[in-house]
Amino acid sequence: MSLDRDRLKAAARQAAEASYSPYSRFRVGAALLASDGSVITGTNVENRSYGLTVCAERSAVVQAVSRGLRSFTAVAVHCPDSDEPVAPCGACRQVLSEFAPPETPVLCVGRSGELETTLGALYPFDSLQELKGR
Ligand code: THU
Repeated sequence: MSLDRDRLKAAARQAAEASYSPYSRFRVGAALLASDGSVITGTNVENRSYGLTVCAERSAVVQAVSRGLRSFTAVAVHCPDSDEPVAPCGACRQVLSEFAPPETPVLCVGRSGELETTLGALYPFDSLQELKGR
């Protein structure tokens, strides 16, 4: 089945509308394409104790896994408050890698540009596997 990029990006854009980001004023929406074809979204949820903030990507992963979906084939991230596309943070890359293989496309969308990469390019080493074979 071919990847419907527009559908996934639209879901991420819509998810950003629910962002709770009064501290950074930086809304982010994420959408995961699950192996069964369903799309699960998440948004960033900030907190007055800043370090407790949950990124959109991890919010989506938690949502998906809570629904029994543990395998993702594509990811989209939409940042309506950034001209440039924004890629998932390091923590989110690792969390995504638990449920998606390295070839998973990651679509990053900003106000005036987008880029497509893969999870493996963003996170080339799995922290539990990287020493295998060395
Ligand atoms: N953020 C995400 O949700 N995902 C990203 O990929 C980058 C950063 C959020 C965290 C915080 O609420 C705000 O964006 C500013 O860093």
